[in-house]
Amino acid sequence: MKNIYLVGFMGSGKSTIGNILAQKLNMKFVDVDTEIEKKEKMKISDIFKEKGEPYFRELEKKEIEKLIQKENLVVSTGGGLGADLENMKKMKKTGTVIWLDVPLNIILERCKNDQNRPLLQQSIEDLKKLYENRKKVYSIADIHINVTNQTPEEIVKEILKRL
Ligand code: S3P
Repeated sequence: MKNIYLVGFMGSGKSTIGNILAQKLNMKFVDVDTEIEKKEKMKISDIFKEKGEPYFRELEKKEIEKLIQKENLVVSTGGGLGADLENMKKMKKTGTVIWLDVPLNIILERCKNDQNRPLLQQSIEDLKKLYENRKKVYSIADIHINVTNQTPEEIVKEILKRL
């Protein structure tokens, strides 16, 4: 089975959905952020603080490069990974890319107390711009799932139908 990649903005539920989806399909679940944290022995927020965002983006690229060589994985990606055109093309070539498209107001509500996502610590105006820009790349995904108030199980059901 080819890989399944979940992309979308921060807080769109990629890890939760990915985990359930992997169980249903009997595939292995991999979370790119968790892999990076394990390898660097640092939290993402500390990587951003101490080494900077460009360094983190390189780690993401290296990680996805490794994962595209494998099969039978459900991969949850960080919000910036799937917004990079080069990464997106690689994922599309090696599997099915699913975009979890959540309106920004829902994301902001979900993440309002989140201290672990460095990119959420910016003004709403800047977040809106980032969100709109990223959508241009996310929208190239193979499957587009509109997420509003469905439960994770309902979203997984819809993904399974669309696959
Ligand atoms: C990021 C999203 C985060 C994490 C890092 C950067 C981004 O992952 O990779 O904080 O650029 O949107 P989630 O999408 O799981 O929040």
